Amino acid sequence: MKDINEEVLRVLITEEQIDARCKELASQIEADYENKNPLLLCLINGSLPFLGNLIKYIRIPMEYDCIRVHSYQGQSSTGNVIVENYNFDKLKGRHIILIEDIIDTGLTLHTLKQMLKSIPIGSVEICSLLNKPGLNQIDVGAKYIGFEIPSEFVIGFGLDYNEQYRNLPYIGIMNPKAIK
Ligand code: XMP
Ligand code: MG
Repeated sequence: MKDINEEVLRVLITEEQIDARCKELASQIEADYENKNPLLLCLINGSLPFLGNLIKYIRIPMEYDCIRVHSYQGQSSTGNVIVENYNFDKLKGRHIILIEDIIDTGLTLHTLKQMLKSIPIGSVEICSLLNKPGLNQIDVGAKYIGFEIPSEFVIGFGLDYNEQYRNLPYIGIMNPKAIK
C-alpha cells in the first residue's frame, strides 16, 4: 500500500490541535452571532474539512453554503482568482462568514470581499484555519484565525498539492522528494 503519510516531511499542526482550535473558534462565533443565523460560506475545495470540523461545535442556528474559488496551480498562486458560477443573490441581507483554509497572499479573500460589496449583505467576516503572513500579503481583516504558520507550502486537512493529500487529518510540510 502506498501511504501518503510517508510523503510528509513533518507534522506542523496535529489533528488534536486542529480540533481544539475549532472548538475555540466555534465558541467565539456563537458569542458573536447569536440570533443572527449566520451563513458560513465555504471556499471549496480546500476548506471543506475545516467547515466540517468547525460546525460540529457551533450550537446556534446557522446555515452553510459552498462557493468554488481557485487561483493555485501546483505550489504557487496564478494571481488570477476565479469564482465559478455562483448565485450571489441568495446572500442578500445575510451575515456571512467566509470559511477559508489558508490566507497566503490574501488575493482570494480580497477579491471575494470586493465582489460582495456590490450586494446588500448584512455583514461579512473571515474565518481561516491558517494564516501565512508575509511581506506581500494584502490585509483582508480576518476576524477568526486558527493558526499562524511560517511561509512554507503545507498540505493536509483540505490543503492539496495538485489535488492530492487533502485527506491527511493534520497539517504537514511536504517532503521535497515527493514533489513531482
Ligand atoms: P491567497 O494567496 O489567495 O491564497 O491568499 C489562498 C489560496 O491559496 C492556496 N494556498 C495553499 N494551498 N498549501 C496549499 O495546499 C499552501 O501552503 C497554500 N498557500 C496558499 C489555497 O488554496 C488558498 O485557498
Ligand atoms: Mg483554497
